Amino acid sequence: MTDHTYEQTTLVLGGTGKTGRRIVERLEARGRRVRVGTPSATPPFDWTDEATWPAALDGVGSVYVTYYPDLAIPGAAEAVAAFATLAVARGVPRQVLLSGRGEEGARRGEQALQQSGADWTIVRSAFMAQNFNESFFVEPVRAGEVAFPADQDLTEPFIDADDIADVAVAALTEDGHVGRLYEVTGPRLLTWADAVAEIARAAGRPIRYVPASLEEYASLLIENQVPADYVKMLTGVFTEVLDGRNAHLSDGVQRALGRAPRDFADYARAAAATGVWNGSAAA
Ligand SMILES: NC(=O)c1ccc[n+]([C@@H]2O[C@H](COP(=O)([O-])OP(=O)(O)OC[C@H]3O[C@@H](n4cnc5c(N)ncnc54)[C@H](OP(=O)(O)O)[C@@H]3O)[C@@H](O)[C@H]2O)c1
Repeated sequence: MTDHTYEQTTLVLGGTGKTGRRIVERLEARGRRVRVGTPSATPPFDWTDEATWPAALDGVGSVYVTYYPDLAIPGAAEAVAAFATLAVARGVPRQVLLSGRGEEGARRGEQALQQSGADWTIVRSAFMAQNFNESFFVEPVRAGEVAFPADQDLTEPFIDADDIADVAVAALTEDGHVGRLYEVTGPRLLTWADAVAEIARAAGRPIRYVPASLEEYASLLIENQVPADYVKMLTGVFTEVLDGRNAHLSDGVQRALGRAPRDFADYARAAAATGVWNGSAAA
């Protein structure tokens, strides 16, 4: 079938982030034109400034939509609704949204896209493995102690951001993904202690997992100079999703790509090889 968007640019919102960066790399490797949508890009795209949206959409054929800081926060669904509607009105119906599992706010964000008239695909993701080497867990892992408000026996099917990017790129470049919701997870349920143990094994050094209460975790973040707004956002999201609702596998990677998702142990080995956890490389 004809790929009508082939000659047009894909706008990758959050194109420097954990999934966006990988999607930009994959699209460019396929010879696609890409525009990064972030506040410091040219033209800029800022979720908090609607005046930046029309220029970012100019000449675009499809969009990867990732909200910042989190699709579950108040106001996110309204922003996604406004953006998706504008994109459709400007002739850009093809939109692929990154969402999160088990979050009521994220569900509203998904509905906002579905009701906008867009040719939508939703990638509803588990907790990303890359939170350990590209995000808020980097420093705790380096320090040898990861505290988090997940009980000792709570499991999560951590997903590799490379798999999310592969699914999003398939949706953006191939037929057959419009109107599909892919709930994507890794292939294995791990406790947070299991995940930290895999990282310790790969990094070749002891790292402890310490279950914390939500209050202890918030205090720890504040002590570590994490901005209060970000602490509020993180603890808000974690209050909702760390009750066991996400402790099951989903088959979105298999359905979208016809292959199994990558295992956490492979992720940990590759991340450890970069030196990120021994303090010798930047996060
Ligand atoms: N992390 C997870 O485990 C997980 C799981 C499921 C779903 N999600 C969803 O993924 C989305 C992004 O999370 P993430 O942690 O993956 O992102 P991330 O890696 O932290 O990347 C954030 C991106 O957003 C850009 N950005 C910052 N401020 C912005 C603004 N005001 N307007 C537009 N873009 C802005 C950043 O640009 P600069 O580089 O210029 O700062 C960067 O490209 C959220 O909506 C979240 O709900 C995350």
